Amino acid sequence: MSRTYRIAPSILSADFACLGQEVRDVIAAGADWIHFDVMDNHYVPNLTFGPMVCSALKAHSKAPDGTPVPIDVHLMVQPVDALAAAFAQAGADLISFHPDASGHVHRSVQAIKAQGCKAGLVFNPAQPLDVLDWVIDDLDLILIMSVNPGFGGQSFIDSALRKIEQARKRIQASGRDIRLEVDGGIKTDNIRRVADAGADTFVAGSAIFGKPDYKSVIDAMRVALG
Ligand code: DX5
Ligand code: ZN
Repeated sequence: MSRTYRIAPSILSADFACLGQEVRDVIAAGADWIHFDVMDNHYVPNLTFGPMVCSALKAHSKAPDGTPVPIDVHLMVQPVDALAAAFAQAGADLISFHPDASGHVHRSVQAIKAQGCKAGLVFNPAQPLDVLDWVIDDLDLILIMSVNPGFGGQSFIDSALRKIEQARKRIQASGRDIRLEVDGGIKTDNIRRVADAGADTFVAGSAIFGKPDYKSVIDAMRVALG
């Protein structure tokens, strides 16, 4: 089956001392989305950046011809709703959250969509997809974690492949246009396997920002995707 693949570099691994330039550089190198990892030192044991940084990067998140490049916000925060609203105001295009971090998943999804953003749910490596039985018809994105959330540079957990396959079946059964994104440990040498399992959108942090030439990595990922 042919899919439109998206590569979403995570700026978690970028140089925080020059984030605007890093965003422009990685877009010039071929990034389709900018993945923005929000950590609160509560839901996950790490602390990153908030809506003010998202707002500041919005002006940089465009292609050289001015076309906006979507900002893909991955909330690793608890509770969800207030920060989701703040990120919508800050210019996020997609906002995803972990269902176990929200007391009322359906309400949080609706609140994100009511702000004009696309809404996604994120599944940790040991979490089942059961909640999709009840909310898949409201989602724009499903994000499968292939590492435990909190840090870049971890190794891909193979059981994510089975979960991606299950998520793809659910998307097909829903008949809806839902992106299936994978986050954690994605490299040029495993991206094809992840795509074969059913993913169409790939977060990559250290694989891209850990190399001096972002374009050569993104190009190699696209070659691997075929
Ligand atoms: C982990 C984050 C990821 C992370 C991926 O909690 O959600 O987006 O940046 O980093 P890599 O690609 O280095 O595994
Ligand atoms: Zn992420």
